[in-house]
Formats: sequence, C-alpha cells, structure tokens
Amino acid sequence: MNNYKAIQISENIFWTGAVDWLMRNFHGYETSRGSSYNAYLILDEKITLIDTAKITFTDELLARISSVVEPAKIDVIVSSHVEPDHSGALREIAALAPQAEIITTNPNGLKGLTARYGKLNYHAVKAGDEISIGKRTLKFVPTPMLHWPDSMVTYCPEEKILFSNDAFGQHLATSMRFDDENDLDTVLREAKKYYANILMPFGKQAQTALKALGGLELRMIATGHGVLWRKHIDKILDCYKSWSAGEVEERAVVVFDSMWHSTEILARTIAEAFAARNIPAAFYDVKSTPLSDIITDVFTSKYLAVGSPTINNQMMPTIAAFLCYLIGLRPVKHKAFAFGSYGWGGQSIGLVEDELRAAGCEILLDKIRIANVPTAQQLDDIAKKISALNL
Ligand code: FEO
Repeated sequence: MNNYKAIQISENIFWTGAVDWLMRNFHGYETSRGSSYNAYLILDEKITLIDTAKITFTDELLARISSVVEPAKIDVIVSSHVEPDHSGALREIAALAPQAEIITTNPNGLKGLTARYGKLNYHAVKAGDEISIGKRTLKFVPTPMLHWPDSMVTYCPEEKILFSNDAFGQHLATSMRFDDENDLDTVLREAKKYYANILMPFGKQAQTALKALGGLELRMIATGHGVLWRKHIDKILDCYKSWSAGEVEERAVVVFDSMWHSTEILARTIAEAFAARNIPAAFYDVKSTPLSDIITDVFTSKYLAVGSPTINNQMMPTIAAFLCYLIGLRPVKHKAFAFGSYGWGGQSIGLVEDELRAAGCEILLDKIRIANVPTAQQLDDIAKKISALNL
C-alpha cells in the first residue's frame, strides 16, 4: 500500500512521476543524490500523460495518476524518449488504457518502442506536428541524438510549458519539485553533471535544439529528471548555451593513479605548478572519486593532466577506464598531457598520451616519464616546464 499523490504544477496539470531516492548508479553514472522519473498528467478534453517511469516505479506512477483520475481514462500518452527510465511503464499504462494513442517520433521512436513493447496504439509524429487535446495544444519538437535518435520535447503554447524530457534535467531526488524550492547551487551542479556525463558528445545537437526552442515563450521547463525550472529558466538556458558550445575555463584537472606514491608526487607537483600560475587545479586519485564526478570537472576545465605508473607493460586499469570514458564523451577544446613514474619499461605514459590524442585533446606538453622515485631536481624541472608553457 502507498498513498502517493499527484502534485499540481499548473491548473489541471500534475506531476505524477516517481522519486528514486536510493539509486546510486545509472548504468555507470554515479548518482550520489538519486534521481526522479518525471511524468505529467494534463486534464483536458483528452486526458494526456507525458512519459511514464522506470518499470520498478509503476506502482508509484499509477498511484499518483489515480489520485487525480482513473488511469483507464487516459486518451493520449506522449512518449518523449524510448529509454526505459521514461518508457518503462508504457505497456502497463497502455494495458489499463488500451484506447490511448501513444505519440512517438517517426521513425526512431516508433522502431524503438515497437522493439521494446510490441505493437501498441502508436501515432508517430515529426517536427512541426501538433495535436489539440482540448483547450491546449501540444507541439512536438524532435531532438534527435539529444541523446537518443528518438528523443523529443513537447511544447504547450497555452501554458508556455516545455516538457523537455532528459534536456535540462538532473539526477537529483528531492521532495520539492521546483528549482526555487531547492538549493540552486546543488541543482546547477547536478544539471552540469548530467550534461557532462550524458549530453557532452551531443553539443551540436544541443545547439540545434536550443535554436529550435529559441523563439518559445517559456513559463516553465518540466524536465524528465530532477527539479522543474520556473524561476531560473534563463540561467539553465545560458548554461546549456555555454556547455553545448564546449566553453572551458582557465582551470586544470590532474587525474592519476599511483602504486607507491611516485606518480602521486608528480601529480602534486603538477597541480601546484598550475596554481602558481593562478590556474586553479583540481586533484583526483581515480580510486577515490567516481569517474562521473571527475568528468564533470574535466568538462569545463581547459587543461588536463593524466598520470599512470606502468603495470604489466600497460597503464593502470583505473586510468584506462577513465580514458575510455573520456574518449566516448568526446570532449572539445581541451589541452592535455601524460605523466607517470615507472620501474622499468615505462610504456604506460606513452599509452596515456595516445589515448589523450584519441580523445581529441591537443597535447600541451611532451609526456613526463620519471624512473622510480622523482628527485627534487626532477620535480623542479617539471614545475619550470609548466611555468614556461605558453597558455
Ligand atoms: Fe532519462 Fe535518456 O533517459
């Protein structure tokens, strides 16, 4: 039993989603603050549900819907995105309301939903299509590769609400639904982490989407995760403009693993050398900080130094995982270099440099390779090299 209730966000529009307080891992993305799966119910001549929830939260979703209307009365389901954190309960809702028309994108949403849920009452839409649900209109704006081929946002002009699905969202579990009811720094930090870990490879697509949404009057952005934006809409739009353009700050991130502290000593020297140039440097041992947090910092920092000792002729597997993640996220405008200590062989440092190139980084400084334990003179030399860089 539960007593979940819908939360009104506008006249006859309700949040009917689910809060995932306990989730700590979203397929590799470390979600230290949980998340939510936001669904929205619009009571109009056609009762409309925008998105569902992860399948394990079907009871919560249904309870919140049922607190306002019988789920069997739903006429339209807008499926903004095939990924199962939003579509997971679709089959269950469609079974309760078999007459409901399921709006999805053509052809990718249609293909994806059919593959997952079989033949249902789909109605595929394309850019510019709209439907009337009574007093309100829903206009569909496909946002392909933001971040799946099927992704779509929906705009209701009468309400000036954008139902944005993954865009502008955050993996953030909260009891209060709006930006102005939560700590703004935390919300923005989680929005940046979400962008960095999920949307970073799709900056061009994000800019295209921002252009498509540019002329819309917005009173509210009803996200697919985390809090909804109503007070700080301009702020999150400005952030997305900057993030999608790949804008970076004069900051450095030093990421390393170490076996017997020699690579760690190099990392400390490098961080201090950046700081001596008035460039703030973040310092991450990959064993101590989740990759998703490190990447969030790398995303907007211009400089990156990655260090690994050599083990079995390779880099440390932890650093390989970091670099694999970095390559997939396709960062832009970063300047980087590799460093590390070694006992013999020392192949890891060149391998790290190769991976930094593969990630699209410009190599700022030739790789720093130190045998055994760095001497004071070698550390001074490293500091001088960083001091002499033409940044
Ligand atoms: Fe929140 Fe791409 O799903």
